[in-house]
Amino acid sequence: VDLSELINLFDVEKMAERTMSKMAYEYVASGAGDEWTLRWNREALDAIKLNPTVLTDVSKLDTRVTLFGYELPYPILIAPTAYHKLMHPEGELATARGAGAASAVYVVSSFTTTPLSEIAEVATQPLWFQLYVRDDRELTKELVQEAEAHGCRALCITVDTVVTGIRNREQRANFTLPNNVLTPHMPGALREQKPLTWKDIEWLQSFARTPVLLKGILNPADAEKAVQSGVSGIIVSNHGGRNLDTVPATIEALPRIAEAIDRRIPVLMDGGIRRGTDVVKAISLGASAVLVGKPVCFGLACAGAEGVTKVLEILRTELELAMALTGKANLASLDHSVIWR
Ligand code: FNR
Repeated sequence: VDLSELINLFDVEKMAERTMSKMAYEYVASGAGDEWTLRWNREALDAIKLNPTVLTDVSKLDTRVTLFGYELPYPILIAPTAYHKLMHPEGELATARGAGAASAVYVVSSFTTTPLSEIAEVATQPLWFQLYVRDDRELTKELVQEAEAHGCRALCITVDTVVTGIRNREQRANFTLPNNVLTPHMPGALREQKPLTWKDIEWLQSFARTPVLLKGILNPADAEKAVQSGVSGIIVSNHGGRNLDTVPATIEALPRIAEAIDRRIPVLMDGGIRRGTDVVKAISLGASAVLVGKPVCFGLACAGAEGVTKVLEILRTELELAMALTGKANLASLDHSVIWR
């Protein structure tokens, strides 16, 4: 693979499509139902226009952000995605190495195909852990404690997946995990986590020693409840359009949620982030940082760790250029005035 051919994140997807098995590509690329939300995530970002300011000093760009006491050099994290060995034989180890080389936080999925202990050994940047709450609450508690013991610095509880969405493209591609791809922390499939409620969030916080974030908030009323429940942060997400089709694009939900949260806790966002200008838009509309899912999977499929690093570096460079050209030298100055109205 010639990485210099990868000029932007859309190139990465195209190259990945040529590299991956049909089944794996469809698994990563597809959305729920008729894929309205999958498309809207992108279309809504594209439809937002920027309002640049000229003649400001942007000679020293500062993209740093501090989250839960840790300073990130730039506000882009790797979203939790399942089954990395489906995308590359080195799986999550390559992702962790790629994240390390790009100085990015990697949120490891509960459905990692590599044990956390091994990922932690190669990680040189902080890991966070994404948690699916299982029916067996003892196992869930043990998993949280294991993640913490391996140094994961935050827990993202996914709350938008009480059942898995309708994925017609996955069904058509006969998606099944190959026998040699195992999910050591999720023995047996998670098909339902229906009894998950606010009480469980309280319970999780009673023993979690790391910050708890709720991933998958779209409703401002839920955002308020999240603050009341005492969580440390939320992630505005529609699961990359993979769960409930026809919910709005995350960039559309974000301003309402940011308004409800009113800076009491950090708001992160994911869904359709492909360009530096997308990151500028998300931060201007209230996000502290963004996460990227599919592009990282595609980078991994193209070139393992180097592909992951490449995706993050492209996005980081584009973010810096977009900030310089909007006339904003740091993240704090990205606000509603950057959006053309
Ligand atoms: C995901 N996502 C996800 N989320 C989660 O909480 N746990 C998981 O195991 C997974 N697995 C997963 C697999 C794949 C292949 C994809 C594409 C996504 C959702 C993910 O964390 C994130 O919310 C979206 O991917 C963000 O949208 P983009 O960046 O993919 O557009």
